[in-house]
Formats: sequence, structure tokens, C-alpha cells
Amino acid sequence: MNIRGIFVLMSGFLCVACGGGGGGGGGSAQPPPPPPPTVTLDDRVRSMIAAQGLTGDPTAGRDLPSIDEPLAQLGKLLFFSKSLSGGFDTACASCHHPALGGGDGLALPVGTGAVDPDVLGPGRMRPDGLPNVGRHSQSIFNVALYDDGMFWDLRVESLGKEDGQNGTNSGIRTPDSLPDNPDLSLPANTNLVAAQARFPVTVPEEMLGNFLQGADGDAVRQRLAERIGDYGAGAGEIPNNNWLPEFQTAFASSLPADQLITFDNIALALGEYQRSLIFVDNPWKAYVEGDNNAIGAQAKEGALLFFGDTEPGVSCGQCHGGDFFTDESMTVTGFPQLGPGKGDGANGDHDFGREQQTADVNDRFAFRTPTMLNLAATAPYSHSGAYSLIDAIGHYFIPDVTFDANFSGGSVCSVAQFADHPDCDTLYPGLVANSESAFDRVIELRNSDPAKTFPDLAFSPPSDAPLLLEFVDALTDPCTLDRACLAPWIPDPSEDPDGNQLNAVDGDGNPL
Ligand code: HEC
Ligand code: HEC
Repeated sequence: MNIRGIFVLMSGFLCVACGGGGGGGGGSAQPPPPPPPTVTLDDRVRSMIAAQGLTGDPTAGRDLPSIDEPLAQLGKLLFFSKSLSGGFDTACASCHHPALGGGDGLALPVGTGAVDPDVLGPGRMRPDGLPNVGRHSQSIFNVALYDDGMFWDLRVESLGKEDGQNGTNSGIRTPDSLPDNPDLSLPANTNLVAAQARFPVTVPEEMLGNFLQGADGDAVRQRLAERIGDYGAGAGEIPNNNWLPEFQTAFASSLPADQLITFDNIALALGEYQRSLIFVDNPWKAYVEGDNNAIGAQAKEGALLFFGDTEPGVSCGQCHGGDFFTDESMTVTGFPQLGPGKGDGANGDHDFGREQQTADVNDRFAFRTPTMLNLAATAPYSHSGAYSLIDAIGHYFIPDVTFDANFSGGSVCSVAQFADHPDCDTLYPGLVANSESAFDRVIELRNSDPAKTFPDLAFSPPSDAPLLLEFVDALTDPCTLDRACLAPWIPDPSEDPDGNQLNAVDGDGNPL
């Protein structure tokens, strides 16, 4: 019998004892007490749900746009436009396509300089076959539900972190402002998603390429707005430019391009498009709302484990709690460090995570806790895209075994993105040492600050990980896996305002 079996037995035993107590007063013969009600699996899950205060709906009380709104429609066209990249070869959607879970389907992104810029997912590559961005592309699904900040290291950060506000209330720190200070160039009440949209266009590897080398972020944004708006230094840069009517419709305005097509308005529209990508209708939500048949018995067992009800040690909900399955905390899990890195460590191939923002060594290897919603659509996982879903879960139980099974001797040949690379055995020489140093930090924190990491789960029953996988699988909205359902968020080729729309294809040339 495994440990959980013993727990079940014990709680059953205790309940029998409880139910039988309290009688026995007086001497006269009493009818025998009714048999104690059997505590079903659903009873246990529902009392856990009550104790956790879950409602199933992480959108409650939020002000969210619909994709049908004019601003979100304009944002859709901009999000898919290669005109926002220096060399007309990359769009936001190159790394965040709805049909790829709102990400890019790769471990690490290939931004500018792709061999075929319109190929997304496996098969997208640069001439050297390697990614040029050091962190895994986050999904843009449900970004309107974050209140603390954007990015793995929270570098676009709400100063007040008010619940339900998506950062609109108290100022936002960005890479353009000093630590703990608001970015004063943001329009009043900007949300986190619109604030974030100001940055990818300024990064050479992501979108900027060699364009305007040495220019600061504001100069880049201004110039891109002039290009889209066909005025100033950008006039004539897009031969067939039909953006002005799109902006006039979206903003219900007849202002001329140089007043209407500003980067602030571009960012606002990009934000509203992304904020309309809400996918929370999953089987677990239906279950929480009352349908006992919405998920299977294993997923229910997995839910109890996840929230620490059956084995308190396995409390994934400690960080991935609540209806959005994240408290947005900056915590350390020591997932492998794969790829070119973010310039940290002796060889520049490490990624110190949150420490990059705070310069505080105590924040080393901390990353923003991701949501568990829609993971079936957003593979691969973690800040470096190193793992499949079962391996990401396995990491919490048997980190070393999981690591060796994927990266024995430091080889990345088992990662689909690198499998065909002739040097995949030796591509990232820092992989083993860097990953070990990140995991060592987990062990340190277990002694010094256990709330910032996860406990040692090595002695949990082997059946735990599959149950957790069943549960996590019930957190995916089927729409995210259904191209027809996603169609409102993907522009038709006929909607192209200027000939630079990304009409993406997969590695085999099939439209996404
Ligand atoms: C080359 C690939 C690439 C391109 C192009 C790109 N992104 Fe990203 N995006 C990423 C990566 C990688 C991250 C995570 C980076 C990090 O945390 O350091 C990210 C993070 C984000 C996030 C944060 C999500 C979260 O959960 O915090 C948003 C929102 C986003 N991108 C929107 C955009 C928009 C809007 C554009 C276009 C203006 C864009 N991206 C262009 C790769 C890309
Ligand atoms: C101490 C906080 C904490 C605990 C406890 C925790 N996680 Fe995580 N989880 C994180 C952080 C932070 C990341 C991102 C780390 C990274 O990418 O380097 C993460 C990433 C993940 C991912 C990858 C998600 C993605 O989108 O890339 C999965 C899956 C996951 N956790 C599942 C679990 C499960 C299952 C448990 C319980 C066994 C658990 N987590 C416990 C903080 C935590």
C-alpha cells in the first residue's frame, strides 16, 4: 500500500470515530444511530475547493475587452504586422501565435533573421539553426489576469499590484524607469499589457534587427509610428499603406495620422487585442461550478494533491494557487538553464532571473510563477523551454533523474528544436553546471527561506506525478486547441492593411 492509501484509510477511520461520538446519554434503549455518511471523493474535493476559496472563474470583477471591439480588431492587425519590426521580418505573432498556444511552440525563440520569416513553430530557424533569444516565449493567453507584472522576471511591474486591476492603478515600473519608480512616459492608467508592448520592438534580436542602431527606445517607437502612419521620417517606407482608416475606425476619430498613429495608440491597441485572449472555460471550472462529471477520478485525486490536501508536502497551490493558478510570486524552482542565456555568470550563458531587475543576490534564479491554465496548448515549459509537461512535473519529484533523462552529458539532442543540429551534443556547454547551480539554490532556500521554493518530494509515491498531470490537463480551455475556435484572433489574409501581414505557416508549409 502506498502512502496515500494509508492516509485515505486513516481519514476514513477518523471519520468513523467522529460520527460515532456524542451519543450514549441516558439509560433507555435508543435506536441505533444511522450509519455515518460515506465521504466521497467529490465531497473531499468540494471541501478543499471551499477551503481554498475557489470559484472557478479568475475573470470575475475584471474589465476585459472582447475581440469584436474596434480597438482589439486594430490590435489584431498590428500584432500580426511585420511592419513593426526593423527589417519587416518579424511580428509579435512570430513568437506569440494563438494557434501555438499564444507562444511559438519552441523551447527558445527565433526572432529576427529567420530563414523563412513566415514559418512558425518547429522548423523556424536562423541560418545557424539556433535561437537568438535566451528565454522561452510566454503565452499571451490570459495576460489580462496578471496584476503584479509582465515577463519571467517581472521587469514591467505594477507598483501597487492591486488585485483585479491589471496594473492600471498605481504606476508601472519598466526597463525605462528607475527601480521602484513609475515609467512617466506611459499614458495615465496604462495597463501592464499595453506597457509591455513598448519593449519587443526595441530589442534587436526580437524585432528591431539592425534598424536604427544605437537609437534609444523612444526614438525607435517614434520612428515605427511614423512608418505605420506614413508621416515624418517614416513617410513612404510602406509603399501600399492603408493604416490610417484602420486607426480612424478603431479610435472613432478623424484626426490626421501624425496625431492618431502614435506609439502610445499602437501599444494601447496591441494591449486590448491581447487582453481579449481570455481562455478560462476548462473542465475544472465546470467541475468547480457544480458538474461532478466534468473531470475524472484521477484529476480529482490530482486536485487534492495539488492543493496539499492529501499530502501536505505536495502543495503546488502554495505558489500556483487561486483560480488563476498563480500568486505571481517570484520563486525559485531551479528548472534547467538551456540556451544562450541572458548574459549572466562567468560565460554569459546563465540567467539569474529576478536578480537582473533588483541587483539583489537573494533574488537569484527567481522567476514569476506561471499560471497552470491552458498548459496542454503551451508546450514546452519553464523559462528556458527545457521540458515537456510530464518532465516539468517530474522535476518537482526527481529533479536529477528528470534532468539526466533529457540532457545526459549536457546534450540537447532530445529537444525537438535542436534534434537535427549536427552539434546538438555540445551546443550549450554550460547546461549542466548552470542547471546544477540553479538547483543548488533550491536546496539552500529549503533551509533559509522555504516559502521561496518547493520542498523535497523525493519520497512521494510514484503515482503522484501522473495524478497531477491528469489534474493539470483539466485546466486547459478546449478553444485553445481548436483552430476554428481561435479564428477571431487570427487575421484573414484579406485583412492585410499593407502587404506586411504575417500569414504564418508551419514547418511543412501548412497555414497556421
Ligand atoms: C522573438 C520573439 C518575440 C517577439 C517577436 C515578441 N515577443 Fe513577447 N515575449 C517573448 C519572450 C521570450 C518573452 C519572455 C521574455 C522574458 O521574460 O524575459 C515574451 C513576453 C511577452 C509578454 C509577457 C507575458 C507574461 O506572461 O508576462 C507579452 C505580453 C508579450 N511578450 C507581448 C509581445 C508583443 C505585444 C510583441 C510585439 C510588439 C511581442 N511580444 C513580440 C518573445 C517575443
Ligand atoms: C515555490 C513556488 C512553486 C511551487 C511550490 C511549485 N511551483 Fe511550479 N513553478 C514555479 C515557478 C517560479 C515556475 C517557473 C520557473 C522557471 O521557469 O524557471 C514554475 C513552473 C511550473 C511549470 C511550468 C509552467 C510553464 O508554463 O512553463 C509547471 C508545469 C509547474 N510549475 C507545476 C508545478 C507542480 C505540479 C507543482 C507541485 C508539485 C509546483 N509547480 C509547485 C513555482 C512553484
